[in-house]
Amino acid sequence: MILPIVAYGDPILRKKGEDITQDYPGLQELIDNMYETMYNASGVGLAAPQIGLPIRLFVIDTTSFVDEDEEDDEDLKDFKEVFINARILEEEGEEWAFNEGCLSIPDVREDVNRQEQIRIEYYDRDFNKQEKVFDGLKARVIQHEYDHIEGILFTDHLSPLRKRILKSRLSNISKGKLNVGYKMRFPK
Ligand code: NI
Repeated sequence: MILPIVAYGDPILRKKGEDITQDYPGLQELIDNMYETMYNASGVGLAAPQIGLPIRLFVIDTTSFVDEDEEDDEDLKDFKEVFINARILEEEGEEWAFNEGCLSIPDVREDVNRQEQIRIEYYDRDFNKQEKVFDGLKARVIQHEYDHIEGILFTDHLSPLRKRILKSRLSNISKGKLNVGYKMRFPK
């Protein structure tokens, strides 16, 4: 089932997510619905706050990122993972810029600086505990989604000047003044 994606300006996007347990009601169906919602909007990641749930859950599938001609993209092809109760343990390496977007902030894309590598612990969809190191674009997508369960949006990372330039567009999004190709929920 495709769920409406919460738009910029909704207070749920500013809440820090709560941990969940394995018996969270309808968890497997929720995960399936989040994937369906994400694919429908052509996203590569979606976090629970974006569908209105303040919990520490996000899903990622970077397959559609892959450019067939780029050998570097090879490891993104099979990167599909569910992150539950995730905690980033370490971030290291040089900061690098990448042009990010967000399904809650349609049609806004901005360069964001983030560190190169992360070490993260989480539970997968079968509630097996994992601890892994990711770098490059995989780390990038995880860092963006992880921010969502911490109540942070990619626009928070921008310079005061960029924020000022975006202000009216963000305000229009929160008022629902935009055309978007997927179902959204706007703040009342
Ligand atoms: Ni996002």
